[in-house]
Amino acid sequence: MGRPRRGSPLACASVDCTSVSAATDIPSQNEAPKPERRPRVFSGSQPSGTLHLGNYLGAIRNYVAMQATHDCIYCVVDLHAITVRQQRAELRRNTIDVANAYLACGVDPERSIVFVQSHVPAHAELMWILNTITYMGELRRMTQFKDKTAGAEGESISVGLFDYPVLMAADILLYRADAVPVGEDQKQHVELTRDVAERFNNAFGKAFVVPEPIIRTEGARVMSLDDPAKKMSKSAGSENSYIALMDPPDVIRRKIRRAVTDSGSEVRVGPDKPALTNLLDIYSALADEPVDEIVRRYEGKGYAGLKADLGEVVASALAPIQARIRELEADKSYTLGVLKTGAERAEAIAARTLAKVRERVGLVPRP
Ligand code: TYM
Repeated sequence: MGRPRRGSPLACASVDCTSVSAATDIPSQNEAPKPERRPRVFSGSQPSGTLHLGNYLGAIRNYVAMQATHDCIYCVVDLHAITVRQQRAELRRNTIDVANAYLACGVDPERSIVFVQSHVPAHAELMWILNTITYMGELRRMTQFKDKTAGAEGESISVGLFDYPVLMAADILLYRADAVPVGEDQKQHVELTRDVAERFNNAFGKAFVVPEPIIRTEGARVMSLDDPAKKMSKSAGSENSYIALMDPPDVIRRKIRRAVTDSGSEVRVGPDKPALTNLLDIYSALADEPVDEIVRRYEGKGYAGLKADLGEVVASALAPIQARIRELEADKSYTLGVLKTGAERAEAIAARTLAKVRERVGLVPRP
């Protein structure tokens, strides 16, 4: 197989990155101009099941768009995935699947670093150091931890699940990332990362960049198709609640046709129409068309027409990604090569940060 084609298969609306600005020092007359460093992005997704439309719209699509303006590092966070028990063979397959999805959606390994978290041990080492300055109270307040452990006895909740946000902070801080594109559900974790970075810098001397979460308005929170009060998630009970990146067109059409709707028959958004709001948001994000215009087109028509058209919009948006994933699956060595180079490049950056952190803390350098 040849190299997969570059670039995004879809029109990606621009990402609002106004909170992040490149370093633009003006050199004095005698000074040679410094090569401009583009702001850096870090983000990651877990290989803990099938990637779905929420991952694509909330995160991966932004990974692709941000390559135009940032130096990007994208990670498959397998150490996060094992905070919930995984089947060995499935975890291996899912790890490669997430890497393939990044590449198929348009992450370009010549411009961006793509790697697997466990291939760079510095993540776990920095996590340990950050553990020593993170408070139990902060971790207990994390909504995702509370959701994942709701109803469970404290005795049987793993330390890894509790500590998960500190590993995420280590991921981001190791690469001195300026910006972290994520869906709305990860915002609290990025805020914790900022607090921990500032605490370290104040206590030990500056080692970290304090990162900004980048959350785009459309697609930031794609909801479940069978319960619009819950976010679309791979761990949700029913297969009908999410659209997997690899769902065939007829499955996509069926899932959207069966999606729950609100009472009444009017196509519009609003707090009393959570299901319709979700469907219209998905439509708008994928067709790159404002919600108002879509609503105007369906005025006076019922839900069925909207659902049928949305099925086509989703199926045709995912078709080129699916075709590229199949190409990548046919040539396993290509993705492994990308991950090998990615780990080497990531490790070199991580080692520099970790050396500085060790020095700041007072650990004796290895003779
Ligand atoms: P994960 O693997 O659950 O999800 C990957 C990305 O997809 C986004 N996302 C969604 N966006 C919109 N609507 C949804 N329904 C939806 N579901 C998921 C997530 O917000 C995320 O951006 N802890 C992270 C992974 C992680 C990470 C990091 C992210 C580990 N280290 C460092 C950024 C930086 C997670 O579990 O994402």
